[in-house]
Amino acid sequence: MDLKFGDIQETALVTLAIRASETRRKNARISDPAAQTIIDTLGVDVSRYDPFLSHEGVVARTIMFRDTLKDLIRRYPDAVCVNLGCGFDDKFSQVDNGQITWFDVDLPDQIEVRRKVFKDRERCVMLEGDALDGAWTRDLPKGKMNLIVMEGVMEYFSKEQVRTCLNMLCGCFTQGYLLVELHSKFMEKNSKHHDAIKNTNAAFGWGTDSGRDYLALEPRLTLVSERSYNEEMKKYTIRGKLFAIVGKKINNRLAVYKWQAD
Ligand SMILES: C[S@@+](CC[C@H](N)C(=O)[O-])C[C@H]1O[C@@H](n2cnc3c(N)ncnc32)[C@H](O)[C@@H]1O
Repeated sequence: MDLKFGDIQETALVTLAIRASETRRKNARISDPAAQTIIDTLGVDVSRYDPFLSHEGVVARTIMFRDTLKDLIRRYPDAVCVNLGCGFDDKFSQVDNGQITWFDVDLPDQIEVRRKVFKDRERCVMLEGDALDGAWTRDLPKGKMNLIVMEGVMEYFSKEQVRTCLNMLCGCFTQGYLLVELHSKFMEKNSKHHDAIKNTNAAFGWGTDSGRDYLALEPRLTLVSERSYNEEMKKYTIRGKLFAIVGKKINNRLAVYKWQAD
């Protein structure tokens, strides 16, 4: 298949490669049976996208996002969920309770490729949409709790783009929770040394050392929780344990925010 990926879109192959290789392992910590099929169907070479630390980080974040989202879905069983910047992720299958409504949203060229390997399902549809422009939100169901997932997306935005995105979400959805991956100021300056991102043309954008930094950009937000991926990574390997010590402040975090109509 002749495919062209933009610089940030290419990063969706990193997480796809890692989910596929972890699923193949004997004691796999996450399972994404579709990932290898997608790689085979697209015919892409993902061999350079699966180094150790990124592998452990993506496994950790997949578990942490999944479990946090499941908790919220238990509280809001008929929520409208949006995987914004979904890439090739199939989180719907991991968390579906038979009641939620789910939208997989990404830039038009990414959704075009995604449509080659996913079909719309009952309560789970794909939408072309930009995290920096809320036009795609207009026809979404209203009156429900909105659970917005941004995993591996904000890291590539400038501070102004983060502000635009947060303002868009709080302006377009009357109430919601945002589950978002944050990266540190250290990582902002070190894309070229990141073990997976250095193999792509992407570069990290504005980093933060505290999730509270988002509150200054969008005052409607409240920070509910913020957890380092170290919490999960240190459970599995000596190198993961060591990284949790050496890279205490460096590793990415899962932050949860909420907002309400005023
Ligand atoms: C690292 S990938 C993460 C994909 C997926 N969330 C995952 O965890 O596997 C980043 C994704 O963000 C998407 N993206 C980048 N800029 C975007 C924007 N302005 N609006 C929506 N999606 C965007 C890219 O197309 C890509 O699919």
